[in-house]
Parts: sequence; C-alpha cells; structure tokens
Amino acid sequence: MEFFLRAQFLIPLISVLALFPLSESNNNQFCDATNIYGDSECNVMSSVSSKILIKGGTVVNAHHKEVADVYIEDGTIVAVQPNIKVGDDIKVIDATGKFVMPGGIDPHTHLAMEFMGSETIDDFFSGQAAALAGGTTMHIDFVIPVDGSLSAGYEAYVEKAKRSCMDYGFHMAITKWNETVSEEMEIMVKEKGINSFKFFLAYKGSFMVNDELLMEGLKKCKSLGALAMVHAENGDAVFEGQKRMIELGITGPEGHALSRPPVLEGEATARAIRLASFVNTPLYVVHVMSIDAMEEIARARKSGQRVVGEPVVSGLLLNDSVLWDPDFHFAARYVMSPPIRAAGHGTALQAALAAGVLQELITVPSTQLRKP
Ligand SMILES: *[C@@H]1O[C@H](CO)[C@@H](O)[C@H](O)[C@H]1NC(C)=O
Ligand SMILES: *[C@@H]1O[C@H](CO)[C@@H](O)[C@H](O)[C@H]1NC(C)=O
Ligand SMILES: [Zn+2]
Repeated sequence: MEFFLRAQFLIPLISVLALFPLSESNNNQFCDATNIYGDSECNVMSSVSSKILIKGGTVVNAHHKEVADVYIEDGTIVAVQPNIKVGDDIKVIDATGKFVMPGGIDPHTHLAMEFMGSETIDDFFSGQAAALAGGTTMHIDFVIPVDGSLSAGYEAYVEKAKRSCMDYGFHMAITKWNETVSEEMEIMVKEKGINSFKFFLAYKGSFMVNDELLMEGLKKCKSLGALAMVHAENGDAVFEGQKRMIELGITGPEGHALSRPPVLEGEATARAIRLASFVNTPLYVVHVMSIDAMEEIARARKSGQRVVGEPVVSGLLLNDSVLWDPDFHFAARYVMSPPIRAAGHGTALQAALAAGVLQELITVPSTQLRKP
C-alpha cells in the first residue's frame, strides 16, 4: 500500500501531532519567520531528532484512512505502513487512539488587521497559536495596502508577521486602483511571491471598485498569471440598504443583515463571474454566505468556467437568529460581511461543500475587534 503525502504537509503533521513533546525538548521551536511561505531555517525539525516514528495512529488522507505508522527522516515522510520496525536511536511518538493527518491550511485570515478604527484581536502569534492547537498549520493572510500602496502594505505585514510561529503566505487586497497599483501588482508577483489579489465589490466610498476598475484588475491578474479574488456584494445597493435601515430606525446588529440581503450577494457574484468569463481569467469568490451566490458559482462551474467558491464555518453552522438577540454585545459579535443568513442557507452551503460545488473552508478569525 503506497501513500502520497505531499512534502508540504510534513511540518504541519509534526506540529499537530507532536507539538507538546517537541516543546518539552526544545523551548525555541518558534522561529522568527520573516519570509513568507516558510523558511528552510524556520523548521521545527532542524532542532530535534532527524528520524521520527509516529506509531499506531489512524492515518487519514483524502482518499483513505488506516491504522499505520509514519516514518520520517530529515523532514521527509519515508514510509506510511503498519508496524514499521526501527532501531533505538529513533524518536518514537505514540499516537495510539489519535488521528494523524495533514495539517489544515486556512486560506483566508485577517490577523492584526486594522479596519475602521479598530484592529483584529488576534495577531500573528496568538492567532497562529490557536490555529496550531486546532490542527491548522498554515494560513494565508490578506495584506492590506497602506493608503493604496501595495509595497508599503507588504512591508507592514512583513513586520506584523515577525511574531509568527507557523507557516503562512500572503494574498493581497486591492483597496484602490490606479497605474501605480497596477505596476506594484507586478512587483508583488515577480519579487514577493504574492499571486492572488482580492477586489472588493462592497464598501462603497472606501475599498469598492466599480466594474471598469474590476475589469482592469481582472486583466492585470490574467496578464500576470495571478488569481483574482472578489468580495461579492453590490456596494451601491448595500449603501442604499443602509440608508433604508437608518430611515426605519433599525440600527442594531439585525439592521446590518437586513441592509445587505442575499440578493445583493447573488448579484455581485453573478456579475464578477460574468466579467471574469468576459476577460477569460479564473475567479475565486471569498466567503460565500448565501444560496444565491452558491447557485451562481454552481452554474458557472457546470458550464466549465474556472470559479472557486469559499464557504465560511460561521456561514455553514449559524443562522441569523443570533443577530436578533436582545443582548447587543452578544448579537454584535456575529456581525460580518456578507452577513450570517436565515436558516436554510447554511444547510444548502454544507451540501454544496460536500458535493464539491464549494471548495475551501475558512474560519476568518477576525470577527472580534478591539480599539488599537
Ligand atoms: C496612485 O495612488 C497612490 C496612493 O494614493 C499615489 O501615491 C500614487 O501617486 C497614485 N499614482 C498615480 C499614477 O496616480
Ligand atoms: C437557528 O439557530 C439557533 C441557534 O443559534 C437554533 O436554536 C435554531 O434552531 C436555528 N434555526 C433553525 C431553523 O435551524
Ligand atoms: Zn476577508
């Protein structure tokens, strides 16, 4: 029986399974990762035994699970099979009764993100420590440009990420568009290893790009071989919805959801998909929260278009009843955009994820904000 564990899963696998044993023998496993996509010197393996046997666990892969041992030499998985015999010089980790699986990769996080006068409460250390405890061993965070400047944003995130204790990568948000931004995208792709860019169809008056600028962005991504991502809600219509709520005096957390209903997510998703088709470039729709958006993605994928839809744990498991809770502080914790939808959307999104209509699964650990 042969297993094909990808090399990139090696460090995650070790850190999930052996986090505590390793930290006992080595207090300095958290490294100063200033480079994205990890760093060969930033390697928990380097400071411990180069030969490790993970014994007796249930090894879980995408296609199969079985009770087996995992033998690792110099950072590479050499064998996965039952009852591997080794000599005394090898560090053995008993995984009896435990699952041994590749570490999760969360492709959408906002650690230490400054937004609307506050900052997300988890930084690159605390967020990553929580992720590791839960079995997620790599994440991709969104660099937010500084006053529209991609390079200034990149420098700021390299600084924030100095607190890192696990592998990470960067996407980049595009928060305004002009010729300088277009040129900087090329620098990010060719020199900084960032090859996915997120455009906002929401947040009118701040991050939002109109259709003309979205097409410029899509064309630029296509020419660079980069992936275009969209936050798909119709920002003009959301603004209209917000005015409506204020006129009606509905200013609690429930007003947030009422001001930006599923139809606006469906509209923006459909528009982005069609413009990506027109430009002929792949599209990644972040945080799909409604049946309306999911059905647009399903239709496009069925027709052969390269579209990826990303559901969020909160969108799969919660319904909007939490936003109506009379305790403001409780309800306010569930405010996110696009908002948590009425019961029914979550179960439909779960089915879409199970059927492969939606692909990634993210946690967005950014809902709690604190004042900087
Ligand atoms: C683009 O916007 C940035 C940030 O506001 C500014 O510094 C830069 O000069 C602008 N470039 C052009 C070509 O307008
Ligand atoms: C909505 O969520 C609440 C808990 O937040 C749950 O009690 C309720 O059953 C859910 N409603 C439906 C229809 O699933
Ligand atoms: Zn996001």
